[in-house]
Amino acid sequence: MKTVTFSLLLCLFSFPVYGEEVTYHRDIAPIIHANCMSCHRPGESAPFPLTNYDEVSRKAKTIARVVDDRYMPPWHANHEVTAFQDVRRLSDDEVALISRWVDEGKAEGDPADSPEPPIYTEGWQLGQPDMIVKMALPYEVPADGPDIYRNFVIPLDLDEDKWVKAIELRPSARSVVHHSLYFLDDSGTARKLDGQDGKPGFRGMSFRKSGSLGGYVPGVSAKKLPGDLARPLPKGSDLVLSTHFHPSGKAEVEQTTVGIYFADKAPSRQLQEVQVPPGFGRGMGIDIPAGESNYVVEDSFKIPVDVEAISVSGHAHYICETMRMTAKLPDGTEKILLDIPDWDLDWQDTYYFATPTFLPAGTVVTSVITYDNSSANPDNPHTPPQRIKWGRESTDEMGSITLIGVPVEADDYTSLNRSTKVQKAKIFAQLGKELKDTRVLDRLPVIIRALDKNQDGSLQEQELPARLRGALLLRLDEDGNKMLDPSEIQTLKDWLESMKSGSNA
Ligand code: HEC
Repeated sequence: MKTVTFSLLLCLFSFPVYGEEVTYHRDIAPIIHANCMSCHRPGESAPFPLTNYDEVSRKAKTIARVVDDRYMPPWHANHEVTAFQDVRRLSDDEVALISRWVDEGKAEGDPADSPEPPIYTEGWQLGQPDMIVKMALPYEVPADGPDIYRNFVIPLDLDEDKWVKAIELRPSARSVVHHSLYFLDDSGTARKLDGQDGKPGFRGMSFRKSGSLGGYVPGVSAKKLPGDLARPLPKGSDLVLSTHFHPSGKAEVEQTTVGIYFADKAPSRQLQEVQVPPGFGRGMGIDIPAGESNYVVEDSFKIPVDVEAISVSGHAHYICETMRMTAKLPDGTEKILLDIPDWDLDWQDTYYFATPTFLPAGTVVTSVITYDNSSANPDNPHTPPQRIKWGRESTDEMGSITLIGVPVEADDYTSLNRSTKVQKAKIFAQLGKELKDTRVLDRLPVIIRALDKNQDGSLQEQELPARLRGALLLRLDEDGNKMLDPSEIQTLKDWLESMKSGSNA
């Protein structure tokens, strides 16, 4: 009660009474300091600084427009239906105040009224990292031209498994680095692709990601995972930075430095990623006719154990319009975990829940993703619109929402992990239908026995049919020992079984 009264009082004091002049120093500077300067200051991602009266007043008209249509600060998740951490969003009152200030003639007021601008620490925000690595070669970003998506491989050469609490990225040319995602590759494919076109790194997404360590978006400071949580970083993995560049009008050279913070020991509970639909929507048959303005992709997953959800993030390309993930609890109540009414490929944030969200065993999470492939969509990469199918290029489409959580009981991890693997069978939905028709499913135990020439219960590389060898090992050989051992064969059986029953959950 007390705090409510207190914040009410604070509101009264911080907003000028009707009729009183709105001034920069007293009324506007606090809003700019708190909501804009993290990106709009020298050396940061935004194209111009907003750090003092002159800079803000020069851009005042545009500022009033972009805060009114909620283009700035960039934030796409509906924070009214889901409570998130670090929400970048102005209140309606703040927006109204900015527009009043501009309408009334942008009064400067008395500098003595202005709060001190925030102080940003130079150097590592989280302190000295346990490991510092850097891109081997600098990459040249031209002054203008289209956005660039490029991957850079950084060998870590770790000789033991590690657990990662946080990663801090320090771009050398912050103004052109729009965002960067951190992937792991344990197969060496990324290394092979590196530099093949004569420049550092490689484009496209044609390496198999063996893990993920989160990502960097401008304006959001690096954070350590809560409690004793940490992400696995198996020995022998390479770090792959998947970076999106936005040319700034000035040629720049990027050579990113990465600081890695390790946990001293394995976490008591393991994080699990639940992607709905799996494989970024690969098995959903995404095929959007030219002109279709409301194409819908929907998929569900039943969580088998009690889980605490930590964060949620979406992934799609240009013509995606909306994204929503809901959780239907066993008692029938519904929770909205993510609602993005206006998807923007440029701001693929990971949204952390304000507090871990409890999802009891039996909760069904459902993703609904919509696309507008009509000419009315200003983000459509094709004029006139063209048929768009699932694919890895940014002018193709994908769609999925990823929930990250931990099982409440550490022992439940195996069961959760197994059911997400079974869920991945959907990637092969088409194959599943064909197998069903040929009744392969019913004959599977016999087939496996026949393939297993040496009768050791595992399928060695040479025992697998040559035509399917690559695909089967890529998808199923979790431990990378070039054969399918009994637990991996079990995953195959579970997959096929789930396709046979056609069940979603
Ligand atoms: C998370 C980083 C970030 C924050 C926070 C942020 N901006 Fe921006 N802003 C950008 C980037 C990046 C661009 C340029 C790219 C773009 O337009 O998306 C931009 C562009 C702009 C533009 C130019 C838009 C145009 O149409 O030319 C204005 C004006 C602006 N920001 C104002 C603000 C104001 C006012 C705030 C605070 C209320 C703010 N920004 C907060 C990153 C940020």
